[in-house]
Amino acid sequence: MKKIIIAMFSLCLVFSLFACSEDREGKLIMATNAEFPPYEYKENKEFKGIEIEMANIIAEKLGKELKVLDIAFDAVIPSVTSGKADIGLSGITVTDERKENVDFSDTYINAVQAIIVPNDSPISNKNDLQGKTIGVQTGTTGDLYATDDFGDAAIKRYNKIADAVLAVKSGGIDCAIIDDQVAIKMVKENEGLKVLNTPYETEEYAIAIKKGNTELLEQINAILSEMKQDGSLNEIINKYIN
Ligand code: ARG
Repeated sequence: MKKIIIAMFSLCLVFSLFACSEDREGKLIMATNAEFPPYEYKENKEFKGIEIEMANIIAEKLGKELKVLDIAFDAVIPSVTSGKADIGLSGITVTDERKENVDFSDTYINAVQAIIVPNDSPISNKNDLQGKTIGVQTGTTGDLYATDDFGDAAIKRYNKIADAVLAVKSGGIDCAIIDDQVAIKMVKENEGLKVLNTPYETEEYAIAIKKGNTELLEQINAILSEMKQDGSLNEIINKYIN
């Protein structure tokens, strides 16, 4: 009896492993953190945003079906490194440090780390941040830069950007450093807050791909360049950012 159960169990295991790899076939798995409007967010359980639309086009051109893996931002690059996802597309800023772990596609958008403060805040630019409490999303460039500039004790880390923004609103922290377009969206939805028009840092987004996967990297760069030339990339961006 025991033997039969073990045999059945192993059979199931082999079967599900097979089903798993089958499942992967024909799919482009995109790791992202879908709490980042207008780039990726969920509306009525549906993924939306600039990078979701970009990924749909990329998948289509690769003859694959897009599958979105919605995880914490600081898990996005590790999921590409481990091979769990094919691409990381999540407003990822290109940095030298990250280049040690993944390859980056050509860049497709310029962004800014922006500072969100209450309307009546005395903070008017990054030089006023000394001695203040700064909210960031864990593992983002906002986190890395601000930790470098002001030390760990000044930083409050949140898993969700929205929670950092709410903490500024409630007065729990003095400001938050997040990506400009996301900041603009969040400030629109939260009364009493503003985005300073002096940037904290400027940067560029690109798609993260597993190191050594040059085939996919080249395919994606070709698609990005097509999308830049035929205007479809701009069309998508203009749909969400005005
Ligand atoms: N651009 C920043 C970075 O690369 C923040 C990206 C956050 N993205 C997200 N989907 N939450 O670190």
